[in-house]
Amino acid sequence: MLRRRQAVLDRDLPYLVAELEGYIVGFCYASQFRPREGYRFTVEDSIYVRPDCVGHGVGKMLLAELISECQAKGCHSMVACICGVNVSSVALHASLGFQQVGLLPEAGYKFGEWLRLLIMQRSLQ
Ligand SMILES: CC(C)(COP(=O)(O)OP(=O)(O)OC[C@H]1O[C@@H](n2cnc3c(N)ncnc32)[C@H](O)[C@@H]1OP(=O)(O)O)[C@@H](O)C(=O)NCCC(=O)NCCS
Repeated sequence: MLRRRQAVLDRDLPYLVAELEGYIVGFCYASQFRPREGYRFTVEDSIYVRPDCVGHGVGKMLLAELISECQAKGCHSMVACICGVNVSSVALHASLGFQQVGLLPEAGYKFGEWLRLLIMQRSLQ
């Protein structure tokens, strides 16, 4: 996690942490969508909310701020790669203007099963 966080900061992209009464309740960050330079204006978000804090707006607050900071840095679009069936993540991204742009069947393999990868995207312009 530290290596990942450093890679985000090295690219001058935002890494945000949500705190409630001194406890971390979620985090999210933007990373370059693909490593080649041609993709430098497209970022991918990653977001996690503490399991006992989901459904209270923490994810939306974090992602809205991430979008706004990436806009301020001149990024062109944001992509979410959602592995497996994840109703909450799809709802969160849709609530902030992301639209489904792709679906890769059997793209991941975890816990003994193949998982699809749903791709959502939002313009930052
Ligand atoms: C996905 C995740 C970040 C969402 O965060 P959250 O704090 O629970 O989301 P919020 O409470 O801010 O909800 C945001 C919106 O999504 C909707 N939503 C969230 N979970 C939902 C669910 N299970 N079913 C339907 N709608 C849901 C909310 O109603 C809200 O919509 P609104 O603004 O129209 O009211 C959180 O569930 C999580 O950390 N999950 C585990 C990790 C994960 O899957 N990360 C994403 C990997 S791609």
